Amino acid sequence: MFLHSGLTASTNKPALHRNFRAECKLVARTTKRCSVAVLTLEPKVSRFVCLKQHHKNYAHIASIGDSTSCVYLNQRQKSNTDHICVRSEERKMETSGLSFITNVPENPMQIFANWHNEANEHSDPNLFLDTMTIAGLSDTDDLLNRNVILRKHDDNGLIFVTERNTMKFKDFVKNPSVAAVFLWIYMINGTAVTRQVRVLGKVAELSELEIAEFYKEEPLFARIRSKICRCGEPVDWNDLKAKHDLTLKDYQDGKDTLPQRDTYTAMRIIPQKFDFYHARRHEIADRVKYTLEDGKWINYHIAT
Ligand SMILES: Cc1cc2nc3c(=O)[nH]c(=O)nc-3n(C[C@H](O)[C@H](O)[C@H](O)COP(=O)(O)O)c2cc1C
Repeated sequence: MFLHSGLTASTNKPALHRNFRAECKLVARTTKRCSVAVLTLEPKVSRFVCLKQHHKNYAHIASIGDSTSCVYLNQRQKSNTDHICVRSEERKMETSGLSFITNVPENPMQIFANWHNEANEHSDPNLFLDTMTIAGLSDTDDLLNRNVILRKHDDNGLIFVTERNTMKFKDFVKNPSVAAVFLWIYMINGTAVTRQVRVLGKVAELSELEIAEFYKEEPLFARIRSKICRCGEPVDWNDLKAKHDLTLKDYQDGKDTLPQRDTYTAMRIIPQKFDFYHARRHEIADRVKYTLEDGKWINYHIAT
């Protein structure tokens, strides 16, 4: 335990399941339930923290830097509270800025391609999930969203593959309106970049020839899934496992080549509106909106 200005403190990071001690000085009490303390985790690393739920013998801290934690204060002697203006000091330490989207090409699929490349380049290849969340109107007119993998993008839109027995396929056949959103977070030169791309448009099935090209790229598990799974239907896991193992064996023995089934399909999102959001850490985001007017893309920056 360290003793400092009448307060000792030990921190407990529940998420990490380990205890460590920290020096803690209560410097201001702002309200009965919320005080401010200086917390020193190791020499030269100290910061103001907001004490939430401040009780007689301990206090929870909402955040220490980037990580959530809590601090238990053992009040050995009566608090020697310094009523200094912590808020204004905190403000001096903080910084702020305004992000700006510099490259705004006429064709929104071009900015999409640039951002997608950049996210790909700066992300861990083992963790970068090239997904988008797509939402449509369900058969009960409720909104329904799910993630799908972005299989291809070009000037005409964004392509994903799916099965004709999924809800999304049935829903898009009835109502082709779609909302898609991408979230990319990565580091460039030590700065975290957050990007979001929102797309509104219509969904259309690809030609059988194009669908077949995508099927050729499917990994083995996806081809087996296409054969043995009826998406969304109740299933007995043991039955499915038996079917899977048999199909796998037949494939390995050359008895089943797992040809494309007529449930397999691919769909294109044809964009009508885009909203590109870009923010560097501690900066206010910039957004660029694209809309189609008389077949021509119009773009302008919008506030976040
Ligand atoms: C990371 C991830 C990627 C996915 N990719 C696809 C995909 O490319 N195509 C697809 O049909 N389902 C994909 N799924 C499954 C869907 O999210 C969804 O659960 C399933 O397709 C059923 O959709 P439905 O609600 O339209 O019936 C993916 C799920 C995850 C978590």
